[in-house]
Amino acid sequence: MTEGTSPPIDLARQVRAHLDALRAAGVTFVPRGEPLTIAPAPVAVPEVVAEPAPPPDPLAGRTRELTVLSGEVAGCNRCEGLFSTRTQTVFGVGPIDPDVAFVGEAPGADEDRTGEPFVGKAGQLLTRIINGCGFKREEVYIFNTLKCRPPGNRTPTPDECANCRPFFERQFDLVRPKFVVALGGTAAKSLLNTTTGITRLRGKLYEFRGVPLVCTFHPSALLRDESGAMKRDVWEDMKLLLRTMGREIPTVKKA
Ligand code: URA
Repeated sequence: MTEGTSPPIDLARQVRAHLDALRAAGVTFVPRGEPLTIAPAPVAVPEVVAEPAPPPDPLAGRTRELTVLSGEVAGCNRCEGLFSTRTQTVFGVGPIDPDVAFVGEAPGADEDRTGEPFVGKAGQLLTRIINGCGFKREEVYIFNTLKCRPPGNRTPTPDECANCRPFFERQFDLVRPKFVVALGGTAAKSLLNTTTGITRLRGKLYEFRGVPLVCTFHPSALLRDESGAMKRDVWEDMKLLLRTMGREIPTVKKA
């Protein structure tokens, strides 16, 4: 045993000695007493710290409203000649708050079948124009002034355009593009509320609902034009768009 430490206590021996002493003194019964209870150690309850609420998503409300609007469009029966012949309505594709939106006339056969605007031949050319400007197709918003395919791809009537106009305006306001391009005469006339043709409207800068607007030829017109002149004009219009946006103008790769 080292100096300064107590010897271990033999408790059993001490109890036995104490009982012997009691017995010697004539004590024959020792009450048991209450069993020893040991209070449980207090359990540490971890403090609950509330998670900070995620910041509100400013786009969530408009995304929801666009979904509701697209449902309204899908159920529209305002134009007898369109809703009875369409496979489905074609609402639009792309992100909210895009730098630029492209607006066409109305869905064609491929769009009526798939539900997505500009997926046929004209759509493939539009994608090349978009890429030529330095954008990815999925970065821009693409939609039409009319949501149903006119049978045989005929030009929409003024009544059909007027019926669809409130849908288009609400969609435009919810998407909020920073710049907009009207593709072809029907879209340009509808946005500018004019009867002037696209040949005279193109090449200049306008505004639609406070958003800078450029009008240009429709990609289907380019597909029909064998001279190549329209292609050059569209590229001039895209350069006007890019200059207005303050973007660099990509160099054209000659084939
Ligand atoms: N032409 C249009 O104007 N819109 C489409 O979606 C397809 C072809």
